[in-house]
Amino acid sequence: MTKARAAVFASGAGSNFQAIMEADDLLCDVVLLICDKPGAAVIEKTEKFGVQAFIFNAKEYGSKTDYERVLLEKLREAGVTWLFLAGYMRIVGPTLLSEFPERIINIHPSLLPEFPGLDAIGQAYESAVDQTGVTVHYIDDGIDTGPIIAQEEVPVYPNDTKEQLTERIQQVEHKLYPRVIRQIMSRFMH
Ligand code: GRF
Repeated sequence: MTKARAAVFASGAGSNFQAIMEADDLLCDVVLLICDKPGAAVIEKTEKFGVQAFIFNAKEYGSKTDYERVLLEKLREAGVTWLFLAGYMRIVGPTLLSEFPERIINIHPSLLPEFPGLDAIGQAYESAVDQTGVTVHYIDDGIDTGPIIAQEEVPVYPNDTKEQLTERIQQVEHKLYPRVIRQIMSRFMH
C-alpha cells in the first residue's frame, strides 16, 4: 500500500498542523510545512514531528506566480501530491491550482458560505448568531468558495467571550480536519 505524501500550508500558531501530525492513521505522510510568515509559531512544531519546513517571504518575490513557482519546485522535490491549508493566509494562485486540481483542501472556522474571509470567528461573534461552525472544503480561485467536503456545527452561547468561542471552534477543527483527510485518503489508497 503506497501512502500519499502531503504538505501542510500554515502561517499561524499551528494547532491544526499539530492535530494533523498527531492523528492516528492519517493514511498519508505529511513531509513538508510551507509557511509564509518567518517567525510563526507553527515553524517550531516541525522539529518535533521531523517535518521539513520551507519558509518564505512573499515580499521578496515580484509576484504570486514567482513565489508559487518556487513552492512548486519544493513540493515536487518532496514528492507531494496533496496540500492541506491550515491557517495559510494567502489566496492560492493558478500555478498551484493547476498542478493540484481537487487536491488542495482548506479548513475555515465558519459554516461556509457564511462568514468567508478574514476573522470568521469574529464575524460570527459580532453577528450574534447562535450557531456557527467549521468547514473543510476544496480550494478554488475564490476566497473560501470551493466545493464543501464536510461541515460541523458549533453552538454560540449567550455569554461566550470571543476566546471561548474560538476555543470551542478549534476543538472541533482538530478532530474534523484529520478525520476528513483520512476519509479522502482512503479513497485514493492502492
Ligand atoms: C484555524 O482557525 C483555521 O480554521 C483558519 O486559521 C486558523 C489556524 O489556526 N483557517 P492554527 O494555526 O491551526 O492554530
